[in-house]
Amino acid sequence: MTKFWTDTVKGLTPYVPGEQRSGDNIIKLNTNENPYPPSPEVMRAIGNVSSDVLRRYPDPESVELREALAAYHGVALENVFVGNGSDEILALAFLAFFTDGKALQYPDITYSFYPVYCDLYSIESQIVSLEADYSLSMERFVPNAGSIIFPNPNAPTGLATPRDSIDTLLKKHTEQVLLVDEAYADLGAQSVVSLVNEYPNLLVSQTFSKGRSLAGMRLGVAFGDKSLIEGLQRVKNSFNSYPVDAVAQAAGIASIEDDSYYKQTLSQIIESRDWTTEQLRSRGFEVLASSANFIFARVPRPTKVDGCEPAAHELFQRLSAAGVLVRYWKKPRLEDWLRISIGTSSDMSKLMDCIDA
Ligand SMILES: Cc1ncc(COP(=O)(O)O)c(C=O)c1O
Repeated sequence: MTKFWTDTVKGLTPYVPGEQRSGDNIIKLNTNENPYPPSPEVMRAIGNVSSDVLRRYPDPESVELREALAAYHGVALENVFVGNGSDEILALAFLAFFTDGKALQYPDITYSFYPVYCDLYSIESQIVSLEADYSLSMERFVPNAGSIIFPNPNAPTGLATPRDSIDTLLKKHTEQVLLVDEAYADLGAQSVVSLVNEYPNLLVSQTFSKGRSLAGMRLGVAFGDKSLIEGLQRVKNSFNSYPVDAVAQAAGIASIEDDSYYKQTLSQIIESRDWTTEQLRSRGFEVLASSANFIFARVPRPTKVDGCEPAAHELFQRLSAAGVLVRYWKKPRLEDWLRISIGTSSDMSKLMDCIDA
């Protein structure tokens, strides 16, 4: 019954997350989760949250967590914002900075939540094409024509943009916000967090969901000039004063403090990523050079011969039937490709066995 829906709700095309199928024999390589558990210190911190802490509202400004993040990244407390996952921060940022009546510039192949937020807030889009090799050229953005957002590394390609190229764009693009979505930056891209004090229009979002194994906790962070952070706080405090609960604040602090565990799991993922890339290439797949915790691979064999399904879709379905979940989009320039999240080395060996079966 849609009788009570407003026209806005009727017109929405919501984001569709990857399938969350679970079970003993399921290998889940479809939502870019971390295959390793969070640090034991995080689990201890969660266990130590007292009933008294839960009885009360959490610190609405998450000061201790933001202080830990500020110290870790070498910025000030006033440069840090935290939210209930980086998706929430993006939603707040779109409202705070992109509803200025100018079209938002973002790549044609990118994180599919951006058009959803544009739709939600009636923001026009200016779509910027990736190059033929799927890389993202900063020169395609028109400085000062409208705000800009892109992930670095991009999703689902996994390709990273060098810091110098972003810096060059920032020198010209001074009149609107540039939001760099660094959800996967800890797996190989060069972060631009260190530039937030140089450019008052640079906002950088990151997440605890990927490199820090805390997708289930919902914890995101943004870095930017004090005035951008204050803008986010104004929107947050007009929507939900307590987006980061007490458990998530404790978990986030413990995760930041256990740097060696974090670095060790990152290097295990990178090792499995390199192994999987090599294995797929040796089987004729084209694999883009990933700086993320997933790879983007073109499935060999011509597509749509005599109206057949693309080979990538066939393989996607075959893997799914065998309990190996990967991501597939039947869209122009994507329909021959699979996005495969990096699991444990055993997950990736099983993936290869299924491909070979
Ligand atoms: C590019 C990109 N940005 C942001 C997010 C959101 O992450 P989260 O809301 O878990 O912090 C994702 C999640 O997959 C992503 O791929």
